[in-house]
Amino acid sequence: MSRIAYVNGRYVPISQPSVEVEDRGLQFADSVYEVILVSGGKPVDEEPHLDRLERSMGEIHLAPAMSRRALKLILRRVLRRNRINDGMLYLQVTRGAAPRNPAFPSDTRPSLIVTARRLAPMNPKDLAEGVAVTALPDLRWKRCDIKSVALLPNILAKQQALDAGFFDAWLVGEDGLVTEGSASNAWIVTADGDLVTRPASPAILRGVTRMTAIRLAGELKIPFVERPFSLAEAKAAREAFLTSASATVLPVVCIDEAVIGDGRAGPLTMALIKRYRAYLSKDAAAGKAGAA
Ligand SMILES: Cc1ncc(COP(=O)(O)O)c(C=O)c1O
Repeated sequence: MSRIAYVNGRYVPISQPSVEVEDRGLQFADSVYEVILVSGGKPVDEEPHLDRLERSMGEIHLAPAMSRRALKLILRRVLRRNRINDGMLYLQVTRGAAPRNPAFPSDTRPSLIVTARRLAPMNPKDLAEGVAVTALPDLRWKRCDIKSVALLPNILAKQQALDAGFFDAWLVGEDGLVTEGSASNAWIVTADGDLVTRPASPAILRGVTRMTAIRLAGELKIPFVERPFSLAEAKAAREAFLTSASATVLPVVCIDEAVIGDGRAGPLTMALIKRYRAYLSKDAAAGKAGAA
């Protein structure tokens, strides 16, 4: 079955050319996006993802081209047409097509692209064994809170990590503080048992999974502190993990040469993974995901 994408009002095979060559998303990365986990046929945390899309659009001076109701209908149609129950939705909004010129075009309609693909649920063994990350300098711009498609520093860091045998990179600012992963938020558990993640600021993306994990940690009564932490502190942490819509909650058991805890997913991380899975199977299936 050929995959079907939504592109500017039409449902088309994904391989069919359907975006103009002079689309500003292609030429300037003048575009923002979202990735939403789909569990049991439902987009998980749909409202906060669409809130963040609207915020990213607002920050680059793009007005919503349609109502949220209409957008949600498109998401469901894309899922249905691709017969996806568990997977990912990808939404991209660009400023549209216009003769190449950095200035905003005056009468161009934004482009909207929606695709979906299947994604196998995380393997319990991978979840228990965790992944290794390498620390790399954060080379990104100063508005990482905007979910821009300009991801070159992120993908270069990811590839550098993969080439060196790591699962991902944790990015570190010039101040020695960890910002986030190349496509995830970074967390540690300190020797005192505090769960720590960096506060929302322009230095990081405000992860939707991050917000859900904060809420679930609260339900589990895990002591939580929102503050920056250094690479040295992360390497000495008792536990570490990362969060994102696609990886959900994933234990980090090595940072470069440093083994975290006993080299396996720690108890707080496992408790959070268990709670997040319950959230996916109960709340998401009931259509309540994202209702904070
Ligand atoms: C740089 C960055 N940080 C954090 C995240 C996690 O965000 P979310 O939990 O909304 O997927 C992502 C997700 O793609 C990301 O690209």
